[in-house]
Amino acid sequence: MTNIAILGFGVVGSGVAEFITVNQKETAYIGGDGVNIKYILDLRDFPNSPFADKIVHNFDVILNDPEVSVVIEVMGGSHPAYEFEKASLLAGKSVITSNKEVVANFGDELLAIAKEKGVAYRFEASVGGGIPALSPIISCVRQNKILEIRGILNGTTNYILHKMFTYGESFEDALRDAQEKGYAERNPDADIHGTDATRKIAILTAIVSGKLLPVDKIYTEGITGIRDEDVKAAEKLGATIKLCGRGIVGDGEPLAMVAPFIVMNTKFLAAVSGVYNAIEVIADPLGDVMFYGQGAGGGTTASAVVGDLVQIMSTGVHYTAPVFEKSEPKVEFESFSSKHYLALAGEDYEKIKSRLGEHLVISEGEEVAILTSHMTERELVGVISGIIPKSHIRALD
Ligand code: HSE
Repeated sequence: MTNIAILGFGVVGSGVAEFITVNQKETAYIGGDGVNIKYILDLRDFPNSPFADKIVHNFDVILNDPEVSVVIEVMGGSHPAYEFEKASLLAGKSVITSNKEVVANFGDELLAIAKEKGVAYRFEASVGGGIPALSPIISCVRQNKILEIRGILNGTTNYILHKMFTYGESFEDALRDAQEKGYAERNPDADIHGTDATRKIAILTAIVSGKLLPVDKIYTEGITGIRDEDVKAAEKLGATIKLCGRGIVGDGEPLAMVAPFIVMNTKFLAAVSGVYNAIEVIADPLGDVMFYGQGAGGGTTASAVVGDLVQIMSTGVHYTAPVFEKSEPKVEFESFSSKHYLALAGEDYEKIKSRLGEHLVISEGEEVAILTSHMTERELVGVISGIIPKSHIRALD
């Protein structure tokens, strides 16, 4: 019997407890052993829950119990989650987490401790909700030369964009709906301003490059600046707009970013809608590989957490993740090159028209929408100098 403790009894924590209970037979079959939820740590009591007798309020009860070999941290937030994870690893317990904030900020240190202590530190659920992506990328894709890892990494914003643009719902209604479905972070600002996706692209970039870029050094834009006019222009172009995370690795140092991108409808990513996420790896000689599934929600995230648990139970404590190290970004965002969608006031367009070089006019009138040829961020600043575009969205190649 493997004794575990769950830290946090929110959407994910209760999803994990329920998953283990309902899928007892399947979990034991794959893990090779039964699972006993010995403790659930939360500040609150849950007198009406079937797990009421497991609730404890003091983390030391878990830390000091030698029978607990695996700690599942699904509290969210950096503190005290990081301290609890670190203490558990130092005490020789394996740790599983869905907490991308902790992995993105402290994953290098926690992986190193796990390696030293001969225990596991696994975080499949931290990226892509229920999609099994990290393990297969590490085990089956990483041996290639990775050119780029990218995708739609936030279910809440993808759900909001889908509702707004397919059903004409207001941003507020769509956000409330996403919160009610348990997709959103405790503070939805992290979703709509892109921070949640930035943490995820930091983790993805780290597992394919070995370098964990500080999240505050990753260029981040959310979805709040997307206007109805931009959606219409994108539709006219045969495209849609998606919040994408990109980790460009190529030959040298990684460059990571999160921003809305114009995505042509011919690309698979354009079809990823609602709460679904997709992670695409572009590798040599493998080519493109895509991981697709639901990116948020209690049950789906619980599936990834329990996937890590049965891996630990069936393969021993060793995690196949190569340890990654914190690294300052060496590639400047200003050198990033893409096509750019610009919406400009008619008179501004006339002012910079000659500087634009070859470009496609999407729509004309009081407002002019265009798609430029490839140019770097630095070149774009030079071209539009002196004017403020009404909108600027990069295009995904
Ligand atoms: N708020 C996150 C999302 C939850 O919407 O994708 C899963 O990480």
